[in-house]
Amino acid sequence: MLSKRIWMCAVILMLTTAIGTAAELSDKEKLGKYVFYDKELSINKNQACAACHAPQVGFTGPDSIINVLGSVYEGSVPGRFGNRKPPTAAYAGDSPVLNNDTGTWIGGMFWDGRATGQTLGDPLAEQAKGPFLNPMEQGLPDAACVVYRVVTSDYKDLYQQVWGKLNIQWPKKVCSEAVTLSSGDQDKINTAYNNIARSIAAYERSKEVNSFTSKYDDYLKGRKALTPQEMRGLELFNGSAMCANCHVPPLFTDFTYDNLGIPKNLMNPFYYESAWNGLGGGINWIDYGFGGFFNIETENGKHKVPTLRNVDKKPYPSFIKAYGHNGYFKSLKEIVHFYNTRDSLDKCSDIVPPQDPKPGLNCWPDPEVLDNMNTLEMGDLGLTDSQEDDIVAFLKTLTDRYESHEENRH
Ligand code: HEC
Ligand code: HEC
Repeated sequence: MLSKRIWMCAVILMLTTAIGTAAELSDKEKLGKYVFYDKELSINKNQACAACHAPQVGFTGPDSIINVLGSVYEGSVPGRFGNRKPPTAAYAGDSPVLNNDTGTWIGGMFWDGRATGQTLGDPLAEQAKGPFLNPMEQGLPDAACVVYRVVTSDYKDLYQQVWGKLNIQWPKKVCSEAVTLSSGDQDKINTAYNNIARSIAAYERSKEVNSFTSKYDDYLKGRKALTPQEMRGLELFNGSAMCANCHVPPLFTDFTYDNLGIPKNLMNPFYYESAWNGLGGGINWIDYGFGGFFNIETENGKHKVPTLRNVDKKPYPSFIKAYGHNGYFKSLKEIVHFYNTRDSLDKCSDIVPPQDPKPGLNCWPDPEVLDNMNTLEMGDLGLTDSQEDDIVAFLKTLTDRYESHEENRH
């Protein structure tokens, strides 16, 4: 009798801890979540972080048609597009502060590493301060406006609980233009803005966003077997296809930078925007990535190695996702085929009629940046068509189960 009761208690305890770890967010994470999904935090009150980083697609761009075309997303102001594809905001929290300690650049946030983490000691939090004020994204006039909208939101009590009460003399024009505050108030705004960013980073690092609930994780824990094809893909991934050299399990990135020689995505609307914002749009624009931002020629064309977790996560099977910093590739098969044949197929520019250049079939377009291209670990892998399929099958095992996000959406 007694042992049965103990056994029952143990079961209930196990159940509650299992549910607890799946669903519960700390107050700080919860605050970050409210901010992450709050459309009010944009100039036209129409765009949250989640507009470009949505859970149902693994925290990247949720619009299949945009992904098929230019792959870059419009900001809060219509007609203003960014210049790169949104990477996932999940599984990014372990990227260190950008450094060159080992002779290789590693860490930071964004495709080009420009959120280094040096000011806050945390690249993920530092990144979160960008989009609210970026005119191509949420487009608010200043940090004071972001803070104002958070501390007057319907989750203002939670803000106060986590970070304390904020006493500011709010100018009448806050949010209609950039405002000037007393230096004491401006200091408080700066601290509050950093705290909001840290809350977002806490949510992005939470168990809800990084659930590690994919079939691959179940396989690692010995709970599920991979199919023979997925197993072959895993072996190629870690072995002769060399993917794991950069996409190091279990996060599937090493936070370094490389130039894969991806062609331009000429459907990117950025090519057709005038250079109104000084970012240098226009048809001759070249994305030099890390080297471009930091002005280091030997790094030109390099972009951060993205995690491959949730790379195939989609709301329905015919949904198209885009791959690479400019979304040039529209399926996993295409990008794997590129790694395999970039250097073994002709350049499309070399193929003249009557032969018909078919990118990916008989040729690849020229790389956007030829310098510093990685030719040691990719380009001519000698994989068969079915080996490419095996790798794709393995990549599909990296999709997290959906429930943990859905249950918690407010
Ligand atoms: C209009 C679309 C858009 C909105 C809104 C947006 N992002 Fe992004 N996000 C992007 C794009 C595009 C990039 C890549 C930009 C680049 O590398 O230059 C990016 C990059 C990131 C990264 C870097 C990931 C990595 O591995 O380097 C994180 C994290 C992120 N965004 C989180 C956020 C948060 C938090 C918000 C809200 C405060 C937000 N984003 C709002 C489009 C958007
Ligand atoms: C030398 C390092 C390196 C190796 C080896 C490598 N990758 Fe990558 N991978 C990258 C970098 C860097 C990017 C982003 C490049 C860009 O967008 O310009 C990337 C991007 C990707 C993407 C797009 C992800 C996204 O969210 O857009 C996929 C998928 C991918 N790699 C799969 C693979 C597979 C499969 C292999 C093995 C066949 C492989 N990679 C080998 C460095 C590497």
